[in-house]
Amino acid sequence: DWNSGNVIAEQVDRIRAQVGTGRVLSALSGGVDSAVSTALVHKAVGDQLVAVFVDHGLLRKGEREQVENDYVASTGVRLITVDARDTFLNALAGVSDPEQKRKIIGREFIRAFEKVQADLVAEAAAEGEPIRFLVQGTLYPDVVESGGGAGTANIKSHHNVGGLPEDLQFELVEPLRTLFKDEVRAIGRELGLPEAIVGRQPFPGPGLGIRIVGEVTADRLEILRDADAIAREELTKAGLDGEIWQCPVVLLADVRSVGVQGDGRTYGHPIVLRPVSSEDAMTADWTRLPYDVLSKISNRITNEVREVNRVVLDVTSKPPGTIEWE
Ligand code: XMP
Repeated sequence: DWNSGNVIAEQVDRIRAQVGTGRVLSALSGGVDSAVSTALVHKAVGDQLVAVFVDHGLLRKGEREQVENDYVASTGVRLITVDARDTFLNALAGVSDPEQKRKIIGREFIRAFEKVQADLVAEAAAEGEPIRFLVQGTLYPDVVESGGGAGTANIKSHHNVGGLPEDLQFELVEPLRTLFKDEVRAIGRELGLPEAIVGRQPFPGPGLGIRIVGEVTADRLEILRDADAIAREELTKAGLDGEIWQCPVVLLADVRSVGVQGDGRTYGHPIVLRPVSSEDAMTADWTRLPYDVLSKISNRITNEVREVNRVVLDVTSKPPGTIEWE
């Protein structure tokens, strides 16, 4: 029966057979699938693999460090980080429309990746061993979904950052193609990856860019990052991670409301908590979080995060609401 050690051994053999002495490129997103597929390929072919991580500035607090420090320490993967924060912010300046944001983020991601890829490909070719392979963290449900998408409506365009240009000249290495998410997590744990990555709840490719209702700016990202970190910390502390599918934290940057703090009137922004329970994200219900946990999160956010004077709870199921606000 199913055993993560066997799956790892089997995949390592397959990857070696496919790749031989060829070089391999991988894009890490910070998510579970790319982290586990990259670690598997690294176990199989070592430094024939180079991983690229694009920091688009839309990550949550600590995520870049998780990849650069903890992930690299636990795997030994050779990692190149591309700091594209300014490029993304400039490209997003003045844009409020959600679909427009997704398109820009998807496009800029591909550009940033292509830039470093060109350098790596040239370097490898000069050394006489060209990069011929690309790792993809495709799971079994992705395979099924893209095979027969009959009747599926495209409600939002889902750009998977970590999703790559279509005209790449690489052969794909997809070691997770037969696996489900919980199996991928088990393999990640067996490989010794950090729990913060392996146990991570779903997070959209466009990141915090689609959790700021309104224009994305550096200032607003900082506010949202702080609020999100508090919510995550308190939910984890209360032992609720297993009960929640994910909990988007959203900044209503275009809304202000009046508040009072100390002796003064404030005029700040609301933060929305959107905890949901779900099996597959296709439908979801809002999670009935304990009042004391909600209260703790609300107090901390309004006390510790500047410009936020109100915390509101989203009590909408999906449908009619989507999980994300954009
Ligand atoms: P919605 O908001 O459509 O979200 O109910 C369903 C699931 O998909 C995630 N999501 C995205 N993931 N790129 C992604 O990679 C996207 O553009 C995107 N939009 C939503 C969302 O977090 C939830 O898990």
